Amino acid sequence: MRHLLTLAEWSSEEIGKVLELAAHVKAHPGTYSNACDRQTLLMIFEKPSLRTRLSFEAAMTQMGGHAIYYDTSRSPMGAGKESIHDTVKAAGRFVDIIMARLFDHAHLEEMAKHSPVPVINALTNFSHPCQILGDLQTIREKKGRLEGLKLAYVGDSNNNVTHSLLYGAAKVGMDITVGCPDAEAYRPRPHVLEKAKADAAERGSRVELVHDAVEAVRDADVVYTDSWMSYHIPPEEQEKRVKDLMPFQVTAELMAHAKEDAIFMNCLPALRGFEQTAEVIDGRWSVVFDEAENRLHAQKAVILYLLGKV
Ligand code: CP
Ligand code: NVA
Repeated sequence: MRHLLTLAEWSSEEIGKVLELAAHVKAHPGTYSNACDRQTLLMIFEKPSLRTRLSFEAAMTQMGGHAIYYDTSRSPMGAGKESIHDTVKAAGRFVDIIMARLFDHAHLEEMAKHSPVPVINALTNFSHPCQILGDLQTIREKKGRLEGLKLAYVGDSNNNVTHSLLYGAAKVGMDITVGCPDAEAYRPRPHVLEKAKADAAERGSRVELVHDAVEAVRDADVVYTDSWMSYHIPPEEQEKRVKDLMPFQVTAELMAHAKEDAIFMNCLPALRGFEQTAEVIDGRWSVVFDEAENRLHAQKAVILYLLGKV
């Protein structure tokens, strides 16, 4: 049984197959309108969400199935009265597939280990693979290819989205440069960089870490940033983080160092005046709402693939 925990565990072929399927699902949604007839997706949430919750739920509705939203603050698991093991063993008797948005990635791995049905990572502190599948779909739509492009990610890089971009870019042969302050708090985890570099070497692409925003975005086809205050970061850290990360804010001046036709991406939620200026996210470079939409199509493809329907 396959799960989607991180993109590191998926082969380039699997990622390619799911991206092809996502494009087909988007172009021909009616073909899949009964693909999940009477099937149920359980959606376990420890953290807030707009896009992930709505896109997964809509995906199941549009494919003839159903999704159950389950907030752990109202559950025996969240109250510390039931183990992850017992929770997924019991839940797997009712549903066909599970997705979970959790703080601790190890808890997601534990779910997958004991679950009788496929488990999808809907974001952990460590990674966010569904986001990156939608992002790769978006980049391919806008640029016509993935291989050989340069993606520059700038900002907080000890970050789930950065980690998944590193894994994903390397698997599809895209160059990726990460630009962040030179401090452990903001750098990608070393083992992620190592794995991405190894995968990239196989595809002939490059993975770089730099500590200067202009250097990072130079000649990039895609400039990407993410929140400086991810869901799991305590509010008291905001003042220091804003000060540390401000040199990596995406501004129109910074975009001028990327390619003339570069696109700007942010997985959202975004704060204008923090990780990017309003001029950028609301400007000619921005593809953030197409990016949000592709969560729906890419996740339909993930569900179909994990349920063995393709
Ligand atoms: N990008 C993303 O996962 O958004 P939500 O937190 O709203 O689900
Ligand atoms: N890095 C962000 C992504 C939100 C979708 C967070 O974890 O909050």
